[in-house]
Amino acid sequence: MANTIIIGAQWGDEGKGKIVDMLSAQSSLTVRFQGGSNAGHTIRAQGEQTILHLIPSGILHQGTLCLIGNGVVLDPAVFLEEADELSKRGLDVSPARLGISKKAHLILPYHKQLDKAREAKRAGHKIGTTGRGIGPCYEDKVARVGIRAADIGNPSLLRDKVRHTLLEKNILLQELYKFDPLDPDVVADELLAMAPRLIPYLTDVEARIDEAAARGENILFEGAQGVHLDIDHGTYPFVTSSNTVSGNAASGSGVGPSFFTRAIGVAKAYTTRVGSGPFPTELLDDSGTYLRERGHEYGATTGRPRRCGWLDTVILRASTRLNGLTDFAVTKLDVLQNLPLLRICVAYEHEGKRCERIPQEEGALDKVNPIYEEMPGFEADISGCTQFGQLPSAARAYIRRMEELVGAKVSIVSVGPDRQQTIFM
Ligand code: IMP
Repeated sequence: MANTIIIGAQWGDEGKGKIVDMLSAQSSLTVRFQGGSNAGHTIRAQGEQTILHLIPSGILHQGTLCLIGNGVVLDPAVFLEEADELSKRGLDVSPARLGISKKAHLILPYHKQLDKAREAKRAGHKIGTTGRGIGPCYEDKVARVGIRAADIGNPSLLRDKVRHTLLEKNILLQELYKFDPLDPDVVADELLAMAPRLIPYLTDVEARIDEAAARGENILFEGAQGVHLDIDHGTYPFVTSSNTVSGNAASGSGVGPSFFTRAIGVAKAYTTRVGSGPFPTELLDDSGTYLRERGHEYGATTGRPRRCGWLDTVILRASTRLNGLTDFAVTKLDVLQNLPLLRICVAYEHEGKRCERIPQEEGALDKVNPIYEEMPGFEADISGCTQFGQLPSAARAYIRRMEELVGAKVSIVSVGPDRQQTIFM
C-alpha cells in the first residue's frame, strides 16, 4: 500500500494534473486537500484535453474514487458545472465515484465580490488573485463564520449564517468598495436550489480514506498551486490563502502525518509564475517569450500569460525540505529543445553575499541576483522518448544536475502533454 502526496514544487502550473492522472491508474482513491477553483489542472489523454478546477484529476480513471477534502474551499456552481461537463463526455461522476467532505467550506457570491473588489482597490499592490473568492472564503473559515458543505442540509442554520455574515460584508461592499449589497435570502435561495444535486455527494471523507486504507488500497493526495504560493512558506503576501505544502495533505483530508509513504514534488524543467510577486530567474527577453510560446504558458483558469524564467534550484531545494519530498517529477523538458544554452540558478547573491536559501524578509527576494550555472542545450526532438537512455546526453546531464542541486531523485520525466510522453526512471 502506498499513500502518495503530489504537490507543485514551484509557483503552481507545474503539470500536477498529468502526474496525478497517470498515478491514479494504480490508485483506488484520489483526494484533493486544499485550494479551490483557482486551480487549473490540465490533462491530455487519447488526444483529448480536460481542464479540471475542483474535481480531482483521478476522475478520468473509471476505477478511481475521487474525494474533495475538508481543506478545499468549494464553489458549488463550479463543481456542478465541472461534473456536468465530464458527464456529457461519458464519464461516471455519480456520488458512487465522487464525494465532497461535509466539512469543506463553500465559496459564496460575496467571497468572489470581495476578492475582486479588494484587488481593484489595491491599485499598484495587486496580488493578482484569480478572483475566485479563495482568500475571502478561507478568511471566513478562520473567523469561524464560514458556511460548510453540510450546512446545505440544514436550511434554517444556513439562512442564519448567511444573514449574520452579510451584516458585516454588506457594509464593506457598500461603504468601502461601492458595490451593491447582497440580499441574504437571495444568496441562501440560490445555494439551496443547488442542494438537491449537491447533498448526495456529501460524505465523511476521513471514513472513506480509513476504509480504503484498511483494504490496503493505494491512495493519492492531490495538491493544488505550488509550495511557493503557500500562505506560510511562500513569497508572502504574494501567495494563495491555503497551505500548499505536503503537511496539509494530513489536515486537509483528515489523516495523520504517519499515513504517507511518498511525497512527489512536480517541477517544470524551467520556472513560471502567474500574478504578482518576486521571481528571481524571470526572463523578460526573447528566451522568456520562447518558453511562453513553446510551453503554451497561459493560465488554465484565467488565461493570463505566465511569467517564464530559468530553473531555480534555490526554491526547489526549499521545496524538498519543506515537504519532505522523496522524489521529483520533472515536466515539460521538451520545451527546452533548441535553446543553445540552458541556465540553472544554483544560489542567489543577497546583500553582496552568496546565499543558498530563500531570504525570509518581505521584499528581500525581489532584491537577490540569481547565480547561474550554464549547461549545453539540445536540439533533438525528445517528445517521443519513453526511456531515459533515449534522451540526448545534454538533456540527461540537465536532469542529473538538477537532482544534485535539489537534493532528491527525479523519478518521472515528462516530455509532452500525453500520457505516453512520460519516462519512468
Ligand atoms: P488566489 O489563490 O486566487 O487568491 O491568488 C493568489 C495568487 O496565487 C495569485 O498570484 C494567483 O495567480 C496564484 N494562483 C492561485 N492559484 C493558482 C494556480 O493554480 N496556479 C498558479 N498560480 C495560482
